[in-house]
Amino acid sequence: MNRREFIKKSTLTTVGGILMATPLARLVAKTYENDFANEANNLVNEPIKNDTKMKVLLINGSPHRKGNTFAALSEVANTLEKQGIEAEIVHIGVKAIRGCIACGQCGMNALGKCIFDDDVCNSIIEKLDAADGLVFGSPVYYGQPNGSLLSLMQRMFYAAGSKVRNKPAAAVCICRRGGATAAFQTLTMPFQMMNMPVVTSQYWNIVYGMSPGQAELDTEGMQTMRTLANNMAWLLKKIHAGEPDYPEREPMQGMNFIR
Ligand SMILES: Cc1cc2nc3c(=O)[nH]c(=O)nc-3n(C[C@H](O)[C@H](O)[C@H](O)COP(=O)(O)O)c2cc1C
Repeated sequence: MNRREFIKKSTLTTVGGILMATPLARLVAKTYENDFANEANNLVNEPIKNDTKMKVLLINGSPHRKGNTFAALSEVANTLEKQGIEAEIVHIGVKAIRGCIACGQCGMNALGKCIFDDDVCNSIIEKLDAADGLVFGSPVYYGQPNGSLLSLMQRMFYAAGSKVRNKPAAAVCICRRGGATAAFQTLTMPFQMMNMPVVTSQYWNIVYGMSPGQAELDTEGMQTMRTLANNMAWLLKKIHAGEPDYPEREPMQGMNFIR
């Protein structure tokens, strides 16, 4: 969407806000809100694949294509491949990734993708259909994940929640010295809200290293990556074995605390 189209849509949203003042408009808005909640938590599950090779998508959230985050993700990917599971590492790159502006266009139009098409977000969303599991890797920046990766995750989960539901997920954090557990927790939060089974390991998924090449020297960290991959493979095989099924789920009952 170009700037002109965005301004047009924003203007419509503002006019809509003014019209909201009437009781009828509020009723319409309530209906829309429910529709949106249903879309965001789409009750129709994606079919489980049981006839093709399974695949895990690993997202490298570092600006360094071949840095320590890549090394940690590669250890996960290689172990998955040994387990017969295809693994693809995608790099988010160094170009700007915008944050979610809460325009709601993805939900309103049931787009299944972000209205903004000027960064890597939608191309990564397109890869979700083929992915059975997800791993997000990030360097630790000031005790937090890389900002670009967070922006990407928030937009892809908001726009394409149904494409990640029921898919096992894990986060991996790489730091020089500290802050990795806080970053790891931050990255893991959305999985629990998106009905994504969180895959565990023998320790929190942390690898230590500063300059490229150092992560490989953290032998326990690398073992933690391999254990994570083996646990992911085990879970995927269990989920995809036999008759595909999903947990029972109630329709979403959203309740906002501001009336
Ligand atoms: C802006 C910035 C902030 C950082 N903050 C931390 C930090 O809080 N704790 C830490 O241990 N390392 C910190 N680091 C170091 C990186 O996490 C570390 O070098 C990591 O291995 C980089 O991974 P990469 O090679 O995949 O980019 C920071 C690096 C940068 C560039």
